[in-house]
This record gives sequence, structure tokens and C-alpha cells, in this order.
Amino acid sequence: MGPSSTEPGGSESLRRLVDGHSGAAPGPARTAVVLAAGEGKRLKSRLPKVLHRAAGRPLLGHVLEALRPLEVDQVIVVTSGRPEFEDAFGASATLVVQDPPKGTGDALRVALEAADARDGHVMVVPGDTPLVTSSTLQDLWTAHLDSTAAASVLTARMDTPAGYGRIVRAPDGGVEKIVEDRDATPDELKIDEVNGGVYIFELHGLADLLTKIDSENAQNEYYLTDVIALLRAGDRNVHALEADASDLAGVNSRAQLAEVTSLLYERTCRHWMDEGVTIVDPTVTYIDASVTIEADATILPFTFLEGSTTVATGAEIGPQTRIIDSEVGPGARVSFAVVRSSVLGPDTSVGPFASLRPGTRLAQGAELGTFVETKKAVLGEGSAAHHLSYLGDAEIGDGVNIGAGTITCNWDGETKHKSVIEDDAYIGSDTMLVAPVRVGKRAATGAGSVVRGEVPDEALAVGVPARVIEGKGNKMRRSERTDKKSPERAE
Ligand code: UD1
Ligand code: CA
Repeated sequence: MGPSSTEPGGSESLRRLVDGHSGAAPGPARTAVVLAAGEGKRLKSRLPKVLHRAAGRPLLGHVLEALRPLEVDQVIVVTSGRPEFEDAFGASATLVVQDPPKGTGDALRVALEAADARDGHVMVVPGDTPLVTSSTLQDLWTAHLDSTAAASVLTARMDTPAGYGRIVRAPDGGVEKIVEDRDATPDELKIDEVNGGVYIFELHGLADLLTKIDSENAQNEYYLTDVIALLRAGDRNVHALEADASDLAGVNSRAQLAEVTSLLYERTCRHWMDEGVTIVDPTVTYIDASVTIEADATILPFTFLEGSTTVATGAEIGPQTRIIDSEVGPGARVSFAVVRSSVLGPDTSVGPFASLRPGTRLAQGAELGTFVETKKAVLGEGSAAHHLSYLGDAEIGDGVNIGAGTITCNWDGETKHKSVIEDDAYIGSDTMLVAPVRVGKRAATGAGSVVRGEVPDEALAVGVPARVIEGKGNKMRRSERTDKKSPERAE
């Protein structure tokens, strides 16, 4: 398995969706706009805020993933025009540029210029609320279509509403206006119902309405929230749907980025536990949303599972393990290890203290032990390197034992060369395999030997530089044993 993108930008179904081949039920056109152009000054970062990652995915990626099952007709993302947006999301949405950012109202105005639909409804979602779920978004559509309101907004009760716009209710229970934290009166600041920043508007007339808002406020910005009071002034109703506060948490600071990250990890752990995975301590287990795990796998503490990683049933991962873009087979065990872009077959064992770099592939029952580093190394069934080795650009057959301290010297200063070790070979402790090199079937190398070139089948190579003694290999005596696949461990 090679490294693979886990961004929703690479998602085929999302692409189909925005191309309009989603097969969604006919009805009023549904447009979604994600606001992602703000600079995020409070993060003090050169990277745009919504591209900061939480649980392995940019904030904006989480929002687009939540929108995906809704199968709306068009998704428009308002960006600052930085090339990173095109790279990650260009294939999955219509990207428009708002430069300079003049507020959320101005951002929506820019987005509507790119809308395919002329009527129907438009859902607006901030790009910095990564916890919003598909079901909450769907609930807002349903509530909106059931009402006669011109607009609907998601709200939440928050213990510490500071920083959010406050929902000012009219006596009839509808929404009178939304007042921003920085513009609120002391009485308004006491309101604990906040604006989640997710709205649905009738598309018809919305662009006109947006021309009517001004920037006379504490931030000198065109606030989208002012549209609510304008609708109300025109005798239109605004409906509020209360959602769970944890769904609507926004990210305006690094501290809030950490908070949403831990909530995302908590949610993912809960999901996999519901699916039958044992997670010993979810508070110290970090599983990206893009990972999949089968029932009856066990994840021990301080483990990070990232990217496109898959973990099969019966596997035991951790403690202290980081696995990125890799496949872990059934019954495999990995502890205190880093594994990148690798494939671990059934019943394999890795660690403690092993580093598997891209291109490592272990066949059934193969084992890599303490202080073993691999890169582009393929080990056949039951082969083992239990201690202190570097195996790079190595093709290792079945039933091979790699002694402690063995190094494949794959780099000659200019280019990399391959080491081939064939079935049932025995590599003595501290062997230097100077690639290109081939050790034949049932061949052996002596402790401390420096081996180059070719060691024929069943031969023994000893010394520095190694001499070949024909017919003295076959240390493993495997041809004489019935249990071919479990090499003796050099304990
Ligand atoms: C906004 C709401 C606030 C609400 C909160 C919910 C306004 C005026 N305020 O405040 O009532 O409680 O979200 O999270 O809308 N953006 C642009 N272009 C801009 C400015 C912002 O695209 O010119 C994007 C940002 O990248 C961000 C989103 O819009 O993803 C919201 O902007 P942000 O500055 O975070 O608004 P808040 O102050 O959080
Ligand atoms: Ca925000």
C-alpha cells in the first residue's frame, strides 16, 4: 500500500456529488456555501485557519465530510485564494475567492455569484466548525422545509458563550436578531443561546439583502448575522433550531483547536468501541476519522492511528505506537513502534521499539523485534529479525532468520542496491550484507562476516571479506523439519 491522501478532496463520491450526478431526490435546488476565507488572525499562523488539522484532517475537510451525505446540488467554498485550497479541495467543490476578507456577509455575497441555482435554498456553514455532524445539518434542512421561515439558524446553549454571536429572541419565540459578542450590551452578553453560524436561506432575494448590510460595527466587517434583523424588519420569520453545543464549537484560537481535536478523537473512539473494538483508554488514544478498525481488535494506550490505516480483527496495537497509512492484518501485534505505509500480514509481530518505513511488507507470522529499522523490505512467511537490524531495499524469503546486528548496506554513496535473501537462509549475527548481494536458499553467513555478491544455495560465507564454503550452509535444517514456518528464536 502506498501513501494515500485521506482528504475529502480526493473522494470520488464527493466529486460525483458536486458534479450533480448524485441521484438526489428532485425538489427545490439545494446549494451549500462553506465560509473559509477568514485569515484566522487569532491563531497567529501563516497557514489559513481552516487548513489547520484536527484529528488528521483540515478543519474545512471535516465540514465538507459532514456535508457530503446530504448530496446537495452544489458546494461552494469561499477561500482566500491560497493555492493550498485548490490542491486539497479543488476537485470536490466550486472554489471562489474573497480577497480581502471583509466579513461573513461579504463572503456569502461572493459565493452567490458562483451559484448554479437561481432559486431553492442555500445552506451556509462556517469552515471552522469541524464537529458539526451530517445529522445535525440534515435536521436543519428538515426543520427549515417544514417551516414557513425565510431563514433557519442552528443555535446552542453554551456555559461559556463568550466569543459567539448571541441569539436575541422576539416575544413570539422567533429570532429577532443576532448580536456579535463584541457589539453586545451587558444584558445581551448574558444570553447563553449562541449562533452556531449554520443557516439556511431562501436563495431568491438573498443577494439583494446582502447589499443592504453595512460594516458599522466593532470589527468594521459585513456581518452575515445582520441579515436576520433585515428579514425580521421585512416581516419574515426566522426559525431557530437548537443543537448540541459540542456540535457547533468553532475554532478561533489554538486553545479551541486543541479542544475540538480532543472532542473529535473522543467521538471516533466512541464510534469504534460501539463497533466492537476494545480501546483500553480512549482519553489517550488518537484515531483519525479516516481509519477503519474491525471488531475485536484491541488498541492500547498512547497509540496514534493515522491516514488510511486499517486494522483487522484480533490485532493488538500499542502501547505507544504510531501507524500511518498502513494495513495491519488479523492477529498482528505492534507495540512501541512507528509504522509508515507498510503492510503487516496476519499474526505478524512488530516491536517493541521498531521503525517500519514505507514499503515494508510482512507476510504471515513474520516478526521484527527490538531496534529493527526497515525500509522497502519484504519478509516472507515466518521470517524474523528479532534484534538490532537495518533492512533496506531487501527481499527476504520464507523462514529466514536474520541474526542480531545484521545490516543491509544498501547505499554505496551514489545509489541504492538490493539485498536478496532466499528461503530458509540463516544470517549470522553482525553480518554486513553489502548490496547488491544475494544469499541463496538454505545458505548461511558467519558471525561478523562482510558479504558481497553471491552466496550459492546451501553455501556458508564467513570472514571479512567473506569466503564461500560450498555445502556448509543449511543451518536452519529446515528441509529436515516438518514445522517449516517457525524459525528458532535467537533469544
Ligand atoms: C461567526 C458569527 C457568530 C457565530 C460564530 C459561530 C458572524 C459575523 N459571526 O463569528 O455570530 O457565533 O461564527 O462559529 O458571522 N470568513 C470568511 N470571510 C470573512 C470572514 C470570515 O470566509 O471575511 C469565514 C472564516 O474563515 C470562518 C467563518 O467565516 O471559517 C466564520 O468567521 P469567524 O471570523 O470565525 O467568525 P466568528 O467571529 O467566529
Ligand atoms: Ca469562528
